[in-house]
Amino acid sequence: MDKVLIIGSKGMLGSALADVFADFNPVLWSHDDLDITEKPQVDEKIGALAPNLIINSAAYTNVDGCEENEEIATKVNGTAVGYLANAAHHLNAILVHYSTDYVFDGLKKQGYVEDDKPNPMSAYGRSKLVGEKAIQESELESFYIIRAAWLYGVHGKNFVDTMLSLAKKGKPIKVVDDQIGSPTYALDLAQATLEIIDTKKPFGIYHRANDGQTSWHGFAKEIFSVFKIKANLSACSTEEYPTPTKRPKFSVLLSTKLEPMRSWQDALRDYKETRNI
Ligand SMILES: NC(=O)c1ccc[n+]([C@@H]2O[C@H](COP(=O)([O-])OP(=O)(O)OC[C@H]3O[C@@H](n4cnc5c(N)ncnc54)[C@H](OP(=O)(O)O)[C@@H]3O)[C@@H](O)[C@H]2O)c1
Repeated sequence: MDKVLIIGSKGMLGSALADVFADFNPVLWSHDDLDITEKPQVDEKIGALAPNLIINSAAYTNVDGCEENEEIATKVNGTAVGYLANAAHHLNAILVHYSTDYVFDGLKKQGYVEDDKPNPMSAYGRSKLVGEKAIQESELESFYIIRAAWLYGVHGKNFVDTMLSLAKKGKPIKVVDDQIGSPTYALDLAQATLEIIDTKKPFGIYHRANDGQTSWHGFAKEIFSVFKIKANLSACSTEEYPTPTKRPKFSVLLSTKLEPMRSWQDALRDYKETRNI
């Protein structure tokens, strides 16, 4: 890996990638350095830098916001990803891109493998699927699309920190218990990315999430137990907690290509140590 470029480097995953790839002295580009929706900028700046590995963690990730701004979401999460694939192709570079469990409808009861047919139920999921397809339909063969789920990490707003802050305020907390997924630590996902590249796995789609499954309510319960914080927590159904986005009920990502990652509970304990709370 002579020259590594990380795009979206100030995001939650981007910051974790910057830490994990630090030994390779990656070039870190935030939104201020490159707007991936501007094709001339993408061609000119990436062409001039000529990286061998492009890792794209830039995205429009406000899931409810995507419902109102699907056009912008599709530009950032979809069309722009095609620009990156095109730039990578011209440089013979490898492109790593991230997608989501939200490309699935959540109606399958056994979890989703890489080849399962996506059927997004939300604007966010649709926009991310446009991104997957933009890579697959481009001329680029050297790509990894890594689908992840329920991310939290040290940099950026996330469910763990939201729960902790609500508990500290002593507020009653209602969390849905009928959406099931796999909470995933951003640092683990960044490390899994490095492993895929380091071990030269075949190009294609991968599922990477911490092992195991739980509901958002189960996740919240574990957060309060691990962080040893008293909280007034209760469970509710999705119907009782309506949001603009229709989220999948069961979107556990299974990997048929790689060994499972460590459990989501172990990862959460590690996050607590890192946060030193
Ligand atoms: N978060 C999750 O639960 C989750 C779950 C599954 C998959 N994923 C995927 O994992 C990846 C990383 O997510 P994340 O949670 O780390 O996201 P994040 O924290 O929201 O970071 C995304 C970054 O992208 C930047 N960005 C937005 N629009 C851009 C543009 N047009 N050009 C360049 N940069 C732009 C943002 O900068 P500004 O803030 O300055 O706009 C932000 O720094 C994404 O592909 C996401 O879809 C996330």
